[in-house]
Amino acid sequence: MNNFRQPNYSAWDFQIKDFFACSSDEEKIAFLVKFAVLAPSSHNSQPWQFKLIQNKIFLKGDPSRELSKSDQRKRQEFISIGAALENLLIAADYFGYKTAVEYLQNDIFETTIEVTFEKITEAKEDVNHLIHTILRRTTNRNNYDNKKDVDKMIISKIQNIPKFFSNISFDIINDSQKKSLLTETIVLATKEAMRGRDFRRELAKYILPTKTHSSVGMPGDTIGVPFFFSYLLPLLIRISPPPEKQSRELHSQLLLHTPFFGILSSTGDTTADWIDTGRTFGYITLTAEKHGLATHPLAAVIEMNDYRKILMKEVTKNFLPQFFFRLGYPTKNSPHSPRLKNIEVIV
Ligand SMILES: Cc1cc2nc3c(=O)[nH]c(=O)nc-3n(C[C@H](O)[C@H](O)[C@H](O)COP(=O)(O)O)c2cc1C
Repeated sequence: MNNFRQPNYSAWDFQIKDFFACSSDEEKIAFLVKFAVLAPSSHNSQPWQFKLIQNKIFLKGDPSRELSKSDQRKRQEFISIGAALENLLIAADYFGYKTAVEYLQNDIFETTIEVTFEKITEAKEDVNHLIHTILRRTTNRNNYDNKKDVDKMIISKIQNIPKFFSNISFDIINDSQKKSLLTETIVLATKEAMRGRDFRRELAKYILPTKTHSSVGMPGDTIGVPFFFSYLLPLLIRISPPPEKQSRELHSQLLLHTPFFGILSSTGDTTADWIDTGRTFGYITLTAEKHGLATHPLAAVIEMNDYRKILMKEVTKNFLPQFFFRLGYPTKNSPHSPRLKNIEVIV
């Protein structure tokens, strides 16, 4: 939990049982959106917009929160939207709704997702349901424990998740030789991304002091930056690439403090593939969290094409890499990030 619980964190402050106080069907569907907005998103940009019409939600990107420098093709945006969709569907399932999902492709870069809700049963009130994990989940950028064995049952559970989508493949890597090669690749890709002036300028807008009123972006405490330094960091990122020491730290974190790397890949490179990747990651991160594991995405290796090709050659083969993340038992908890409330993203 964050020490400075400002109004920009209030999206986290509700209880599952509050659903039963909603009187109209519309209010109930708007309540489900409270779970969607807690999903992870690139730079915590929360690039989503929800339109409610009777028993339907139309979910699409919000152009005002696009990341035009780091995410020109909008892959990261649609992965984020996919994760929000998965949270929405998990919440709907808990409360006894049957859902039908359709992707309405407007043009090559635009897809609206239509979700139709039909109430078919009472709420499940199952204490093991993934809905409970939505309220706890955070991205954890700390070191993970390399010595603690992860139960094979949990890994196989996580490994089986992409089976819901025939276009998505999932690789979990813990072979030390492969990890070492991938570590080099990720460090180089991250360094190259950070050399881009426009990339850094955009990122700097989303790096926030630990104590912030903003509902969008990443406060210093969520990225492991000391309190006072968090006020200076956006300026430093703007003006120059980070010092070499940071690359060494990332290198050692990947190699020595990350038991597993996860790579999601797909058959195509369309908005639908990205949404499905986001849905799969959304489900994986919640399942991981449920079992005490944490995840930490690293997008640069996907967005920098030459490095993405290395992932393909070494791991994903005929599938196109879409999402890379660390997976393991965290050595420290990570605080929640701020959020826009459901009413701020319902249009
Ligand atoms: C598509 C996508 C890309 C992301 N890329 C990165 C990344 O490159 N580096 C990183 O540290 N976190 C990354 N994240 C994690 C987000 O920064 C994080 O979800 C966001 O700040 C909100 O925090 P939370 O997940 O703790 O709620 C990514 C998340 C998503 C969904």
